[in-house]
Amino acid sequence: MQSFTYWNTTRIHFGKGQIARIAEEVPADARVLVTYGGGSVLRNGVMDQVRAALAGRTVIEFGGIEANPHFETLVKAAELARAEKVDFLLAVGGGSVADGTKFVAAAALFEGDPWDILVERGTNVRAALPVGCVITLPATGSEMNRNAVITRASTQDKLPMNSVHVMPRFSVLDPETTFSLPPRQTANGVVDSFMHVLEQYLTYPVGAKVQDRFAEGLLLTILEEGPKALGEPANYEVRANLMWAATLALNDLLSRGVPGDWATHRIGHELTGLYGLDHAATLAVVLPSLLKVKRAQKREKLLQYAERVFGITTGSEDERIDAAIERTRAFFEAMGVRTRLADYGLDAKVIPEVAEKLRQHWQVPLGEHRDVTPEVASEILELAL
Ligand code: NZQ
Ligand code: ZN
Repeated sequence: MQSFTYWNTTRIHFGKGQIARIAEEVPADARVLVTYGGGSVLRNGVMDQVRAALAGRTVIEFGGIEANPHFETLVKAAELARAEKVDFLLAVGGGSVADGTKFVAAAALFEGDPWDILVERGTNVRAALPVGCVITLPATGSEMNRNAVITRASTQDKLPMNSVHVMPRFSVLDPETTFSLPPRQTANGVVDSFMHVLEQYLTYPVGAKVQDRFAEGLLLTILEEGPKALGEPANYEVRANLMWAATLALNDLLSRGVPGDWATHRIGHELTGLYGLDHAATLAVVLPSLLKVKRAQKREKLLQYAERVFGITTGSEDERIDAAIERTRAFFEAMGVRTRLADYGLDAKVIPEVAEKLRQHWQVPLGEHRDVTPEVASEILELAL
């Protein structure tokens, strides 16, 4: 196991009715900017609960944060936060609202061009307004991590940032808020959280048995519960397990002491930035092909994954690896998330465009071995056509 430091400062309030806890978390004299997306939280009753919990505070609402949140919109929210002398931000929505609000928290106190926060991946953030979160889409783990991914629509650049300053002070996870998710977003969340585990698990062994078993437990849970959520959208236990799994999949716990890949995500972000595919769709497209291209480097973990997650124990090693890759693809497809570029109307013309964006955004090749160059990414996308 590699050496590590683990530190996570987000307080979690999990369960039915926990939105009321906001009253204890946000100071009584706070000036609060409540942020939300396209209106799902207005329709499903979540915002009513938030407003009730914030009663007595000065509350300003900022809606319209897009899926794959736009820098251009968030800069306006940061200006509003400054103009209104806001001292607390409360994100109410999915990962896009959570991410966007984290960026606003940093941008509101940032001297200079806020785009530099993304250029420097958040390393230049010295302070941020406090953020709380009511997460309504289990997927990103944004509710308990220090990451945000922001898109500048005008240049089609989608970039991640990372700063301890934007870590939510608290997050509310009420599974009932997810009953209203459309099947496409339920599926996206299942695929994304599954992929977060794989990015931290399907690398090479370092003797980290705790992390491996923890990862396998999450993978098995998501495999079991994901399809149920499509069939029984108001099943509380199913939603609760998916919600907690998604948070644990990317709250910096699994990543401690082990190598991380993240090439699928970074290639995927370019596909979203350029062509607007849902985040989870990009992952479902890229991963099966990436595993084929990187099967030698990932061999031992692929065999472990095949056996412990899918129970594949017969056949040659190569057959078992092929079977595990196909089972993974079949899971994404069964969730309704298609796994080929052609399924999204994209063809080979996109490959040089994605490679060029990767060249612009990443100085060092991607992956746990830093060997996924733009050329290798092109090879992966060829296989994903
Ligand atoms: O905008 P509204 O009206 O709220 O509707 C949203 C949106 O249309 C809807 N939705 C959310 N909760 C709902 C709901 N509809 C009905 N009922 C509910 N309870 O779902 C749509 C998608 O929402 P979005 O927030 O975009 O989805 P998600 O949570 O999957 O977030 C995706 C974003 O997070 C980034 C992605 O790149 C993408 O930009 N990620 C953030 C990460 C992080 N912070 O650590 C890691 C991830 O890998 C990912 O990159
Ligand atoms: Zn993701």
